[in-house]
Amino acid sequence: MKIGIIGGTGGQGLGIAIRFVQAGKDVIIGSRAVEKAQEAVDKIKELLEKDDIPNLKAAENPNAASEADILVLTVPLAAQQPTLLSIKEGAAGKILMDATGPLETAIGGPPTRCLYLSEGAAAERAQKILPDTTVICAFNNISSGALMNFTEPIDCDCLIAGDDQEAKVTVAKLIERIPGVQVVDCGPLERAQIIEKITPLLIGLNIKKTCTDAGIRITGIDPECKLY
Ligand SMILES: NC(=O)c1ccc[n+]([C@@H]2O[C@H](COP(=O)([O-])OP(=O)(O)OC[C@H]3O[C@@H](n4cnc5c(N)ncnc54)[C@H](OP(=O)(O)O)[C@@H]3O)[C@@H](O)[C@H]2O)c1
Repeated sequence: MKIGIIGGTGGQGLGIAIRFVQAGKDVIIGSRAVEKAQEAVDKIKELLEKDDIPNLKAAENPNAASEADILVLTVPLAAQQPTLLSIKEGAAGKILMDATGPLETAIGGPPTRCLYLSEGAAAERAQKILPDTTVICAFNNISSGALMNFTEPIDCDCLIAGDDQEAKVTVAKLIERIPGVQVVDCGPLERAQIIEKITPLLIGLNIKKTCTDAGIRITGIDPECKLY
């Protein structure tokens, strides 16, 4: 299964890419410019100290979306709509994990504050923009700091939300290939409104505690109630 990281050249996309490469998955890093995507590929090679990573390649976002089987969106909120429109055709019929944080940075505010969208969650907004794609809210509460610390397991759960149960199982199996991560299904896509608000909270904690990988664990869940 090929994973396309749309806007995969920033901290979050790079971190997710490196973790999936480590898990032996085929990864395509997408960017508006293929040269920038190639720089991200080269960066991962350098970090993993490998001259060649056959399961990792670079592409422009629309090509990454067309070639991949499953997608991850890792762009700032202000770039969400144009980026999604640029991959609309290639993303049709596929699953897209949306990590977009609805942060006030989109309007010049601080990253510790949430922006309230008329569509509800950023992931619900993504689903409206791409009606032929199955959008799952994911990766909002795992920081790029934790993802990029790739020699260590991640001490954090990944809360997901979506309206398609089968797609959530697919996504959960994939994300749990990242050591330490437990996926918690929080219910329908509208629950993304709650999940996404955890991101500015964690950013605030990172700033206050001068760390980079604040995360959360949900306790008391019966393992029998997992998604698969
Ligand atoms: N960083 C974290 O710890 C973290 C944690 C949880 C959730 N998130 C969420 O994940 C998303 C990505 O975070 P990030 O820190 O990786 O973001 P970022 O570094 O600011 O941006 C990621 C990529 O998005 C593309 N992009 C940026 N501005 C754009 C614009 N105006 N138009 C089109 N594309 C643009 C760029 O790719 P190209 O120039 O290559 O096209 C950029 O490399 C955000 O929504 C964030 O809220 C981040």
